[in-house]
Amino acid sequence: MNQAPRHFLQFKDLSREEIDYVFARAKWIKDRFKRYETYHPLFDRTLVMIFEKASTRTRLSFEAGMFQLGGSAIYLNTRDSQLGRGEPVEDAAQVISRMSDVVMIRTFEQTIVERFAANSRVPVINGLTNEFHPCQILADIFTWIERNGSIQGKTVAWIGDTNNMCNTWLQAAELLDFKVHVSSPKGYEVDQAKANIAGSAHYEQFADPMDAARGAHIITTDVWTSMGFEAENEARLRDFADYQVDGDMMRVADKEAVFMHCLPAHRGEEVTSEVIDGPQSVVWEEAENRLHAQKALLEFLVVGRVQG
Ligand code: CP
Ligand code: NVA
Repeated sequence: MNQAPRHFLQFKDLSREEIDYVFARAKWIKDRFKRYETYHPLFDRTLVMIFEKASTRTRLSFEAGMFQLGGSAIYLNTRDSQLGRGEPVEDAAQVISRMSDVVMIRTFEQTIVERFAANSRVPVINGLTNEFHPCQILADIFTWIERNGSIQGKTVAWIGDTNNMCNTWLQAAELLDFKVHVSSPKGYEVDQAKANIAGSAHYEQFADPMDAARGAHIITTDVWTSMGFEAENEARLRDFADYQVDGDMMRVADKEAVFMHCLPAHRGEEVTSEVIDGPQSVVWEEAENRLHAQKALLEFLVVGRVQG
Protein backbone atom coordinates (compact mmCIF):
# COMPACT_ATOMS: atom_id res chain seq x y z
CA MET A 1 0.00 0.00 0.00
CA ASN A 2 1.54 3.34 -1.03
CA GLN A 3 -0.69 5.74 0.86
CA ALA A 4 -0.87 5.85 4.66
CA PRO A 5 -3.96 3.87 5.68
CA ARG A 6 -6.97 5.59 7.21
CA HIS A 7 -8.04 4.34 10.63
CA PHE A 8 -11.26 4.54 12.68
CA LEU A 9 -9.93 4.58 16.23
CA GLN A 10 -12.28 7.27 17.49
CA PHE A 11 -15.38 8.84 15.96
CA LYS A 12 -13.67 12.03 14.87
CA ASP A 13 -11.05 10.18 12.83
CA LEU A 14 -13.50 10.70 9.96
CA SER A 15 -14.68 14.14 8.88
CA ARG A 16 -18.34 15.08 8.96
CA GLU A 17 -18.49 14.76 5.19
CA GLU A 18 -16.90 11.29 5.32
CA ILE A 19 -19.33 10.14 8.03
CA ASP A 20 -22.25 11.37 5.90
CA TYR A 21 -20.80 9.45 2.95
CA VAL A 22 -20.56 6.27 5.07
CA PHE A 23 -24.22 6.70 6.16
CA ALA A 24 -25.29 7.05 2.51
CA ARG A 25 -23.31 3.92 1.58
CA ALA A 26 -24.77 2.03 4.55
CA LYS A 27 -28.25 2.73 3.23
CA TRP A 28 -27.28 1.66 -0.31
CA ILE A 29 -25.57 -1.53 0.91
CA LYS A 30 -28.45 -2.37 3.28
CA ASP A 31 -31.09 -1.89 0.55
CA ARG A 32 -29.22 -4.19 -1.85
CA PHE A 33 -28.67 -6.77 0.88
CA LYS A 34 -32.39 -6.78 1.72
CA ARG A 35 -33.11 -7.51 -1.97
CA TYR A 36 -30.67 -10.46 -1.85
CA GLU A 37 -28.41 -8.80 -4.44
CA THR A 38 -24.79 -9.90 -4.37
CA TYR A 39 -22.25 -7.13 -3.76
CA HIS A 40 -18.60 -8.17 -3.43
CA PRO A 41 -16.36 -5.07 -3.34
CA LEU A 42 -14.03 -6.83 -0.86
CA PHE A 43 -13.56 -10.02 -2.88
CA ASP A 44 -10.27 -11.69 -1.84
CA ARG A 45 -9.73 -9.25 1.04
CA THR A 46 -9.18 -10.37 4.63
CA LEU A 47 -10.27 -8.84 7.91
CA VAL A 48 -8.41 -9.85 11.07
CA MET A 49 -10.45 -9.41 14.24
CA ILE A 50 -8.58 -9.29 17.56
CA PHE A 51 -10.64 -9.68 20.71
CA GLU A 52 -9.23 -9.07 24.19
CA LYS A 53 -12.77 -8.74 25.60
CA ALA A 54 -15.99 -10.70 25.04
CA SER A 55 -18.41 -9.92 22.21
CA THR A 56 -21.56 -11.13 20.49
CA ARG A 57 -22.68 -8.29 18.19
CA THR A 58 -19.28 -6.93 17.20
CA ARG A 59 -17.86 -10.28 16.20
CA LEU A 60 -21.01 -11.37 14.41
CA SER A 61 -21.50 -8.12 12.49
CA PHE A 62 -17.87 -7.82 11.36
CA GLU A 63 -17.53 -11.48 10.45
CA ALA A 64 -20.87 -11.75 8.63
CA GLY A 65 -20.34 -8.33 7.02
CA MET A 66 -16.95 -9.23 5.65
CA PHE A 67 -18.27 -12.48 4.10
CA GLN A 68 -21.27 -10.67 2.63
CA LEU A 69 -18.89 -8.20 0.95
CA GLY A 70 -17.03 -11.10 -0.67
CA GLY A 71 -14.07 -11.26 1.72
CA SER A 72 -13.11 -13.39 4.68
CA ALA A 73 -12.60 -12.78 8.39
CA ILE A 74 -10.18 -14.35 10.87
CA TYR A 75 -10.84 -14.31 14.61
CA LEU A 76 -7.92 -14.03 17.04
CA ASN A 77 -8.06 -13.76 20.80
CA THR A 78 -5.39 -13.26 23.39
CA ARG A 79 -5.88 -16.74 24.87
CA ASP A 80 -5.01 -18.72 21.75
CA SER A 81 -2.51 -16.42 20.03
CA GLN A 82 0.88 -14.97 20.90
CA LEU A 83 -0.86 -11.67 21.72
CA GLY A 84 -1.52 -12.88 25.25
CA ARG A 85 2.07 -14.06 25.75
CA GLY A 86 3.82 -10.73 25.64
CA GLU A 87 4.51 -10.20 21.93
CA PRO A 88 4.77 -6.41 21.58
CA VAL A 89 1.73 -4.76 19.98
CA GLU A 90 4.07 -3.09 17.47
CA ASP A 91 5.45 -6.46 16.30
CA ALA A 92 1.97 -7.97 16.09
CA ALA A 93 0.84 -5.01 13.97
CA GLN A 94 3.74 -5.45 11.54
CA VAL A 95 2.97 -9.13 11.05
CA ILE A 96 -0.81 -9.06 11.01
CA SER A 97 -1.00 -6.10 8.64
CA ARG A 98 1.28 -7.86 6.12
CA MET A 99 -1.21 -10.74 5.86
CA SER A 100 -4.51 -8.86 5.86
CA ASP A 101 -6.31 -5.86 4.37
CA VAL A 102 -8.02 -4.44 7.46
CA VAL A 103 -7.87 -5.10 11.21
CA MET A 104 -10.51 -4.68 13.93
CA ILE A 105 -9.43 -4.64 17.58
CA ARG A 106 -11.45 -4.85 20.81
CA THR A 107 -9.20 -4.21 23.78
CA PHE A 108 -8.63 -2.26 27.00
CA GLU A 109 -6.70 1.04 26.74
CA GLN A 110 -7.09 3.26 23.68
CA THR A 111 -3.29 3.49 23.54
CA ILE A 112 -3.20 -0.17 22.47
CA VAL A 113 -5.20 0.48 19.26
CA GLU A 114 -3.15 3.64 18.66
CA ARG A 115 0.16 1.74 18.96
CA PHE A 116 -1.17 -0.98 16.67
CA ALA A 117 -2.35 1.54 14.07
CA ALA A 118 0.96 3.41 14.14
CA ASN A 119 2.67 0.19 13.02
CA SER A 120 0.00 -1.12 10.65
CA ARG A 121 0.12 -1.09 6.86
CA VAL A 122 -3.66 -1.44 6.68
CA PRO A 123 -6.67 0.35 8.21
CA VAL A 124 -7.39 -0.35 11.88
CA ILE A 125 -10.91 -0.14 13.36
CA ASN A 126 -11.68 0.29 17.05
CA GLY A 127 -14.14 -2.47 17.99
CA LEU A 128 -14.39 -1.04 21.55
CA THR A 129 -11.83 0.21 24.03
CA ASN A 130 -12.20 1.49 27.59
CA GLU A 131 -12.45 4.98 26.11
CA PHE A 132 -14.51 4.65 22.89
CA HIS A 133 -16.97 2.51 20.89
CA PRO A 134 -17.17 4.34 17.55
CA CYS A 135 -18.74 1.52 15.49
CA GLN A 136 -21.72 1.37 17.84
CA ILE A 137 -22.38 5.11 17.57
CA LEU A 138 -22.09 4.86 13.78
CA ALA A 139 -24.89 2.26 13.85
CA ASP A 140 -26.94 4.22 16.40
CA ILE A 141 -26.87 7.48 14.45
CA PHE A 142 -27.58 5.58 11.22
CA THR A 143 -30.62 4.13 13.02
CA TRP A 144 -31.82 7.62 13.93
CA ILE A 145 -31.24 8.95 10.39
CA GLU A 146 -33.14 6.03 8.81
CA ARG A 147 -36.18 6.76 10.96
CA ASN A 148 -36.06 10.53 11.32
CA GLY A 149 -33.52 12.18 8.99
CA SER A 150 -30.65 14.40 10.16
CA ILE A 151 -29.53 14.34 13.79
CA GLN A 152 -28.25 17.93 13.57
CA GLY A 153 -29.81 20.14 16.25
CA LYS A 154 -31.36 17.20 18.14
CA THR A 155 -30.78 16.33 21.82
CA VAL A 156 -29.49 13.02 23.13
CA ALA A 157 -29.91 12.33 26.87
CA TRP A 158 -27.16 10.11 28.22
CA ILE A 159 -28.13 8.65 31.62
CA GLY A 160 -25.66 6.76 33.82
CA ASP A 161 -22.01 5.85 33.43
CA THR A 162 -19.80 8.24 31.44
CA ASN A 163 -18.09 5.33 29.70
CA ASN A 164 -16.82 4.47 26.20
CA MET A 165 -20.32 4.87 24.73
CA CYS A 166 -20.88 8.24 26.38
CA ASN A 167 -17.46 9.53 25.24
CA THR A 168 -18.24 8.53 21.68
CA TRP A 169 -21.67 10.21 21.71
CA LEU A 170 -19.88 13.38 22.92
CA GLN A 171 -17.42 13.26 20.01
CA ALA A 172 -20.20 12.57 17.51
CA ALA A 173 -22.15 15.56 18.86
CA GLU A 174 -19.25 17.88 18.10
CA LEU A 175 -18.76 16.48 14.61
CA LEU A 176 -22.43 16.29 13.58
CA ASP A 177 -23.69 19.31 15.55
CA PHE A 178 -26.20 17.93 18.03
CA LYS A 179 -26.42 18.21 21.82
CA VAL A 180 -25.83 15.64 24.59
CA HIS A 181 -27.43 16.04 28.03
CA VAL A 182 -25.38 13.94 30.44
CA SER A 183 -26.65 12.89 33.84
CA SER A 184 -24.28 10.83 35.98
CA PRO A 185 -23.60 10.60 39.72
CA LYS A 186 -21.02 12.72 41.52
CA GLY A 187 -17.55 11.38 40.80
CA TYR A 188 -18.60 10.03 37.38
CA GLU A 189 -18.83 13.32 35.46
CA VAL A 190 -17.60 13.63 31.86
CA ASP A 191 -13.81 13.62 31.56
CA GLN A 192 -13.18 15.97 28.63
CA ALA A 193 -9.57 14.87 28.23
CA LYS A 194 -10.51 11.19 28.06
CA ALA A 195 -13.36 11.88 25.62
CA ASN A 196 -11.00 14.11 23.62
CA ILE A 197 -13.55 16.94 23.43
CA ALA A 198 -11.73 19.79 25.20
CA GLY A 199 -13.89 22.91 25.36
CA SER A 200 -16.93 21.25 23.77
CA ALA A 201 -20.11 23.34 23.80
CA HIS A 202 -22.14 20.36 22.61
CA TYR A 203 -22.92 18.84 25.98
CA GLU A 204 -24.35 19.83 29.33
CA GLN A 205 -24.09 18.01 32.67
CA PHE A 206 -27.29 17.60 34.75
CA ALA A 207 -27.52 16.48 38.38
CA ASP A 208 -31.09 15.21 37.96
CA PRO A 209 -31.59 12.64 35.17
CA MET A 210 -35.19 13.85 34.67
CA ASP A 211 -33.82 17.28 33.75
CA ALA A 212 -31.45 15.68 31.25
CA ALA A 213 -34.29 13.70 29.67
CA ARG A 214 -36.78 16.57 29.40
CA GLY A 215 -37.52 17.24 25.71
CA ALA A 216 -34.71 14.95 24.47
CA HIS A 217 -35.12 13.11 21.15
CA ILE A 218 -32.99 10.09 22.09
CA ILE A 219 -32.81 8.66 25.61
CA THR A 220 -29.88 6.30 25.96
CA THR A 221 -27.89 4.48 28.59
CA ASP A 222 -25.54 1.53 29.04
CA VAL A 223 -24.50 -0.98 31.68
CA TRP A 224 -23.28 0.49 34.97
CA THR A 225 -20.23 -1.76 34.95
CA SER A 226 -18.36 -2.02 31.66
CA MET A 227 -16.00 -4.84 30.73
CA GLY A 228 -12.74 -4.46 32.62
CA PHE A 229 -14.36 -2.66 35.59
CA GLU A 230 -15.93 -5.70 37.26
CA ALA A 231 -14.05 -5.10 40.54
CA GLU A 232 -16.10 -1.90 40.99
CA ASN A 233 -19.46 -3.62 40.42
CA GLU A 234 -20.75 -3.49 44.00
CA ALA A 235 -19.95 0.20 44.44
CA ARG A 236 -21.40 1.00 41.04
CA LEU A 237 -24.73 -0.73 41.80
CA ARG A 238 -25.04 1.67 44.77
CA ASP A 239 -23.76 4.78 42.99
CA PHE A 240 -26.02 4.44 39.92
CA ALA A 241 -29.22 3.33 41.70
CA ASP A 242 -30.97 6.67 40.91
CA TYR A 243 -29.91 6.66 37.25
CA GLN A 244 -32.29 4.08 35.81
CA VAL A 245 -34.17 4.87 32.59
CA ASP A 246 -37.86 4.19 33.31
CA GLY A 247 -41.30 5.03 31.95
CA ASP A 248 -41.48 8.35 33.81
CA MET A 249 -38.25 9.46 32.17
CA MET A 250 -39.52 8.52 28.70
CA ARG A 251 -42.69 10.52 29.38
CA VAL A 252 -40.79 13.81 29.94
CA ALA A 253 -38.77 13.31 26.73
CA ASP A 254 -39.97 14.49 23.32
CA LYS A 255 -43.19 12.64 22.47
CA GLU A 256 -41.51 10.99 19.46
CA ALA A 257 -38.36 10.10 21.48
CA VAL A 258 -36.65 6.74 21.01
CA PHE A 259 -34.79 4.64 23.55
CA MET A 260 -31.35 3.35 22.54
CA HIS A 261 -28.97 0.87 24.22
CA CYS A 262 -25.91 -0.74 22.65
CA LEU A 263 -26.66 -4.08 24.41
CA PRO A 264 -26.12 -6.29 26.28
CA ALA A 265 -28.57 -4.76 28.80
CA HIS A 266 -29.37 -5.42 32.44
CA ARG A 267 -33.13 -5.05 32.88
CA GLY A 268 -33.88 -3.70 36.36
CA GLU A 269 -30.53 -1.90 36.58
CA GLU A 270 -29.84 0.82 33.98
CA VAL A 271 -33.24 0.35 32.27
CA THR A 272 -36.64 -1.10 33.11
CA SER A 273 -38.22 -3.86 30.99
CA GLU A 274 -41.11 -1.47 30.34
CA VAL A 275 -38.75 0.82 28.41
CA ILE A 276 -36.34 -1.55 26.66
CA ASP A 277 -39.19 -3.87 25.59
CA GLY A 278 -41.60 -0.99 25.00
CA PRO A 279 -42.78 0.79 21.83
CA GLN A 280 -40.15 3.56 21.89
CA SER A 281 -37.21 1.14 22.03
CA VAL A 282 -35.13 0.74 18.85
CA VAL A 283 -32.49 -1.55 20.34
CA TRP A 284 -32.94 -4.38 17.81
CA GLU A 285 -32.64 -1.96 14.89
CA GLU A 286 -29.43 -0.59 16.41
CA ALA A 287 -28.02 -4.10 16.72
CA GLU A 288 -28.94 -4.99 13.12
CA ASN A 289 -27.49 -1.74 11.84
CA ARG A 290 -24.08 -2.67 13.23
CA LEU A 291 -23.92 -4.98 10.21
CA HIS A 292 -24.91 -2.44 7.57
CA ALA A 293 -22.99 0.55 8.97
CA GLN A 294 -19.79 -1.47 9.39
CA LYS A 295 -20.03 -2.89 5.87
CA ALA A 296 -20.05 0.70 4.62
CA LEU A 297 -17.13 1.55 6.92
CA LEU A 298 -15.11 -1.48 5.74
CA GLU A 299 -15.74 -0.57 2.11
CA PHE A 300 -14.70 3.05 2.70
CA LEU A 301 -11.51 2.17 4.57
CA VAL A 302 -10.40 -0.68 2.29
CA VAL A 303 -11.34 0.45 -1.23
CA GLY A 304 -12.18 4.14 -0.71
CA ARG A 305 -15.07 5.96 -2.33
CA VAL A 306 -17.19 4.18 -4.88
CA GLN A 307 -20.03 5.23 -7.15
CA GLY A 308 -23.30 3.40 -6.77
N1 CP B 1 -22.86 -3.59 21.54
C1 CP B 1 -21.79 -4.41 21.42
O1 CP B 1 -20.69 -3.98 21.06
O2 CP B 1 -22.06 -5.71 21.71
P1 CP B 1 -21.00 -6.89 21.87
O3 CP B 1 -20.25 -6.65 23.15
O4 CP B 1 -21.86 -8.13 21.95
O5 CP B 1 -20.09 -6.91 20.70
N1 NVA C 1 -19.78 -0.03 27.91
C1 NVA C 1 -19.90 -1.43 27.63
C2 NVA C 1 -20.32 -1.64 26.21
C3 NVA C 1 -20.46 -3.08 25.79
C4 NVA C 1 -20.83 -3.22 24.33
C5 NVA C 1 -18.57 -2.12 27.91
O1 NVA C 1 -17.53 -1.53 27.58
O2 NVA C 1 -18.56 -3.22 28.46
